[in-house]
Amino acid sequence: MKTIFSGIQPSGTITLGNYIGAMLQFVELQDEYNCYFCVVDQHAITVPQEKSALRLNTKSLAAMYIAVGIEPSRSTLFIQSEVPAHAQAAWMLQCVSYIGELERMTQFKDKSSGKEGVSAGLLTYPPLMAADILLYKTDLVPVGEDQKQHLELTRDLAERFNKKYNDIFTVPEVRIPKTGARIMSLQDPLKKMSKSDPNQKAFISMLDEPKQIMKKIKSAVTDSEGIVRYDKENKPGVSNLLTIYSILSGKSIEEIEESYIGKGYGDFKNDLAEVVVNRIEPIQKRYFELMNSDELDEILDSGAEKANFAANKMLKKMENAMGLGRKRKR
Ligand code: TYM
Repeated sequence: MKTIFSGIQPSGTITLGNYIGAMLQFVELQDEYNCYFCVVDQHAITVPQEKSALRLNTKSLAAMYIAVGIEPSRSTLFIQSEVPAHAQAAWMLQCVSYIGELERMTQFKDKSSGKEGVSAGLLTYPPLMAADILLYKTDLVPVGEDQKQHLELTRDLAERFNKKYNDIFTVPEVRIPKTGARIMSLQDPLKKMSKSDPNQKAFISMLDEPKQIMKKIKSAVTDSEGIVRYDKENKPGVSNLLTIYSILSGKSIEEIEESYIGKGYGDFKNDLAEVVVNRIEPIQKRYFELMNSDELDEILDSGAEKANFAANKMLKKMENAMGLGRKRKR
């Protein structure tokens, strides 16, 4: 059975973008693959985090993974910092990374430009991500479009390591969904929907109340044409809403366009809000059950145990390949 790895940062609330771009793929793929899903808290601290908020967001994201449909009996769900091999492997991969290639990462440029006190962790973020993936002999990494460049670097690092030392890493493929790989901000449809957007109206949180969802969708930026039609270039706002509508309702874009002929954006937005709320409500119900039970701790303990077992085996191989430590007789 082939292996999947993916991770999400507990750096804030989970957005509808994370759900559509990443989590929906995870749920779909867990039948066919041996899956590892991770709460990447060590990635989150590359930018300042408030301690109690990070703890809460970590638990909350773990609960959300299960609430959206990840089944811990089939998939391994764990917290990155509870598997020390990730940071250890990341160090080794940093030592085969070039500063220049890390500086060229668009995420690094975006998050560091014009800022003072940028952490070294922000620069070495991609080798940690490569460690996450390579430790599990991952074949496939389902992510949204914004992670594509990091995946390319992961592949480069794996190939470089294999060539320079020992051929131990599987070179992973990326899997980006055909639609929904980049859900856009509701307030600026040329920008990605992001949980770190200071404007709360720009994103839908998976924990928003129905009323908030309704409000946010009603105030989503569209255009003055008044026709519900997909045209990404000229109508990015409406096209983004159509994408969300199509994915969550299972209807094709054409079908949706047809059903709004002669109607305005008001009706369209009302119905879309209903579609979003209907999808999110049962997820929230399960989420709150999990947050108020001990079930989650048991799941994460067992996930960490399984992940540690697999990761430590690869870590040993890496150390042997590089000549770290002593050779031990067994
Ligand atoms: P993060 O936490 O920013 O996002 C988690 C996942 O959600 C996707 N995503 C989106 N998809 C569609 N539209 C959007 N607006 C949108 N916003 C986010 C992301 O592409 C991602 O798949 N570096 C990663 C976390 C990570 C990781 C890994 C991923 C660490 N190690 C190993 C895969 C494998 C990140 O910051 O994702």
